[in-house]
Amino acid sequence: MTVSNAIRKKVEALRDQIRHHNYRYHVLDDPEIPDAEYDRLMRELQTAERQHPELISPDSPTQRVGDQPVEAFGTVDHALPMLSLDNAFTAEELRDFHRRVADRLELDSGDEALAYAAEPKLDGAAVSLLYVDGRLERGATRGDGNTGEDITHNVRTIDAVPLRLIGKGYPSRFEVRGEVFMPKAGFAAYNAAAIAAGEKTFVNPRNAAAGSLRQLDPKLTAARPLDIYVYAVGLVEGGELPDRHSATLDRLQEWGFKTCPERRVVKGVEGCLAFYEDLGRRRQSLSYEIDGVVYKVDSLAHQRELGFVSRAPRWAIAHKFPAQEELTVVRGVEYQVGRTGAVTPVARLEPVFVGGVTVSNATLHNIDELTRKDVRVGDTVIVRRAGDVIPEVVSVLIQRRPKGAKRIRLPRKCPVCGSKVTREKGEAVARCTGGLFCAAQRAEAIKHFVSRRAMDIEGLGGKLIEQLVAADRLKTVADIYVLTRDELAAMERMGEKSAENLISAIEQSKSTTLARFLFGLGIREVGEATAASLAAYFGNLDSLMASTEAELLAVSDVGPIVASRVRAFFDERHNLDIVGRLRESGVNWTEMEPQMAPEDGPLNGKTFVLTGSLASMTRDQAKQRIQELGGKVTGSVSKKTDYVVYGDKPGSKLTKARELDVVTLDEPHFQKLLKTR
Ligand code: IVH
Repeated sequence: MTVSNAIRKKVEALRDQIRHHNYRYHVLDDPEIPDAEYDRLMRELQTAERQHPELISPDSPTQRVGDQPVEAFGTVDHALPMLSLDNAFTAEELRDFHRRVADRLELDSGDEALAYAAEPKLDGAAVSLLYVDGRLERGATRGDGNTGEDITHNVRTIDAVPLRLIGKGYPSRFEVRGEVFMPKAGFAAYNAAAIAAGEKTFVNPRNAAAGSLRQLDPKLTAARPLDIYVYAVGLVEGGELPDRHSATLDRLQEWGFKTCPERRVVKGVEGCLAFYEDLGRRRQSLSYEIDGVVYKVDSLAHQRELGFVSRAPRWAIAHKFPAQEELTVVRGVEYQVGRTGAVTPVARLEPVFVGGVTVSNATLHNIDELTRKDVRVGDTVIVRRAGDVIPEVVSVLIQRRPKGAKRIRLPRKCPVCGSKVTREKGEAVARCTGGLFCAAQRAEAIKHFVSRRAMDIEGLGGKLIEQLVAADRLKTVADIYVLTRDELAAMERMGEKSAENLISAIEQSKSTTLARFLFGLGIREVGEATAASLAAYFGNLDSLMASTEAELLAVSDVGPIVASRVRAFFDERHNLDIVGRLRESGVNWTEMEPQMAPEDGPLNGKTFVLTGSLASMTRDQAKQRIQELGGKVTGSVSKKTDYVVYGDKPGSKLTKARELDVVTLDEPHFQKLLKTR
């Protein structure tokens, strides 16, 4: 039977693709696609070659391990090839592997007594370390398995690589193999620093490890947080090693090598599967990346009996975890509006199975990230979902970008409510200015409005608010005051009685103070203290709403950021409407004389901080007195603070004041100051 041209072409095309990706990965250290995609291409080729063995040629990627090393490093011929591992993706494939092993060893195929050394499959870069008379002689990369690169100058910089062995009994000349990796924390810190410096980041810790080892300048490698666990020996001369893999690793550990603390000896397939389940559960909490588990027949006599097939040993297999990175296509980019109005770009994706679930949305974090990654509609992207972490877009495969794909820009208007979207200088987060009007911010804003320190409406809890918002009964906080007893009674878990109680709590809340009301509005940066300062300074809402930023700056506790936030809030028509409706519903407070600071008060220009409780007055009264005399009260101590007034049980502000040499006043001295002025 002859093979059709179509199949021949398909196999060649697959080989070309795999060769291209081998080159990107091994030679350039800059892979274009996630491992899972590469594995899939390789499996597809393997399947095709299995079905049509006449197509197998010696130059097929399935017939060798990797590709040529780059020429900038010296080359090292591995005395024993550095092989790769076959993969199992399911328990069934693992059982098949075990059956093959048992058959070859002529054991009962259900033999659960067979001991396997189970180890995490570390996601880093394989290295070979040659020791002669206990001294590190040479370090090499795996390269294509037969020939690697001489990276002695770089491996020497890794603290975990012993330059000289300790203990006794090591062979006079032997090669230790292991995985160099960058722990997660080091990886995150490295990338954060790279972003800050405007340099290129690494896509994952494995690329970081491989890239770091392939530096011509060892100083650069030394600055990278690299680590190593050893997991095998290669050539051994002039000495003996134990007859079990696990015992060999124990021995290596005694001589000063790091081995993975998670490694165990398990019995049979069930032991392997239990190890896999356990490690899978704990994977996220490990300090380094792993992408599966490796099982190795523990007995070296058995290993010898089993031998090798072209590229991998018959006595070992890698049992992969579900891929945490996959390729998919971006269908669109939308914006989600959070509680504080933060506008977050979200990629809508062609659904893809990653990290054990189907993912169709991934966060792009913020506009800076979106700009940096330059994600566009139609792009093929790498999505990552690690554990319970929100899926994210890692990077774009630029070479697969469709023609004419346009850059994505920050929307000018909130996609939910149409209000202006603004972004402060130096801030990554863009925000909707819609405030109470914006549906996305509504439920949270309403919860804040009714909270104890604001309008204090008892019985209007979070769950009920969410229900009312979902049912469109609460569009803004103003709607609270038109809720009826009957409609409340109809809500889940509400009875006649509780509805009645709630109606009277709502009624009672109408008499409030300007400070509470302002705080309840949820203007950004306007906390309780600032709301109180604003209320005291302006005395009534109309003057506050009519004030300019410059006037606002005169209020104690108000700086340029707060001033612009307050102004922006009252510049938004929706907010004015809501405030108007609230007043019409009968929300009221006692208006006070504006007590703007006297321009020539005796405490003019003086800044105070209060800490602890005073015996003769409340903190608010103390503040008011200071303000009447022209002083300012702020919340935190700095070199600019003139006085720190302390009462009973002062906090860290007093300590800070003493550190900074700021004048501190106890209550009698404070009283004296107020009187003499
Ligand atoms: S043993 C003949 N053990 O996986 C067996 N390899 O696909 C050779 N790897 O190049 C490898 N963790 O970089 C072994 N505990 C482990 C491993 C491990 C990660 C990597 C290694 C190797 C690749 C084989």
